Amino acid sequence: MDLEELKKTVAREALSFVEDDMVIGLGTGSTTSYFLKFLGERIREEELEIYGVPTSYQSRLLALEYGIPIRALDEVDAIDIAVDGADEVDPQLNLIKGRGAALTMEKIIEYRAGTFIVLVDESKLVNRLGEKMPVPVEVIPAAWRAIAEEIEVFNARAELRMAAKKDGPVITDNGNFILDVKFERIDDPLDMEIELKTIPGVVENGIFADIADIVLVGTPQGVRKLE
Ligand code: 5RP
Repeated sequence: MDLEELKKTVAREALSFVEDDMVIGLGTGSTTSYFLKFLGERIREEELEIYGVPTSYQSRLLALEYGIPIRALDEVDAIDIAVDGADEVDPQLNLIKGRGAALTMEKIIEYRAGTFIVLVDESKLVNRLGEKMPVPVEVIPAAWRAIAEEIEVFNARAELRMAAKKDGPVITDNGNFILDVKFERIDDPLDMEIELKTIPGVVENGIFADIADIVLVGTPQGVRKLE
């Protein structure tokens, strides 16, 4: 089974958590894109009254394309479930997120969801967070270099994320830069998440410790549910 098929399989499985009258946090990324497509189809076929709260311009545009009615965070009383992908998942279900540079709004919405459901393929499972992926950190542009230097005290190297054409930095939906931080070792994800947050100029970081409720893992043998 190829990777895209695994993504589709977990995205379809996530539909089993969807009920009428829900407000759903709409994540960002290639796996979640399939979920948005299937959700749009289900809303149309079953005439469900569901609102999506997008975590990025990308998910907002896809929701509009797939006919998912959307609301801003300040227009809803609560978020029932949120569905999103991740870049790494450790055995305690701590996550690294933010390859798509949408981590700030993702964390704001997913932290507030009644149930946060994560969709990954099995290649994203790691024994220790940071094993394969750097931690994205969204920073105020003027502070990027100072923050990159400060982060080195954590035995880490921070690189400014550049746009695909290398003609300038990636700019987030909030108008900020992203530092990709490769740690020698992350012993305590929650502790590191909090440490990073206290650096002035850091807007948010891609460690999502203790936020995920359910992780659906796509494998060639089917979907595994971790909780
Ligand atoms: C975006 C994210 C994505 O959810 C994460 O990068 C996973 O993406 P994909 O499903 O494309 O692998 O955090 O900021």
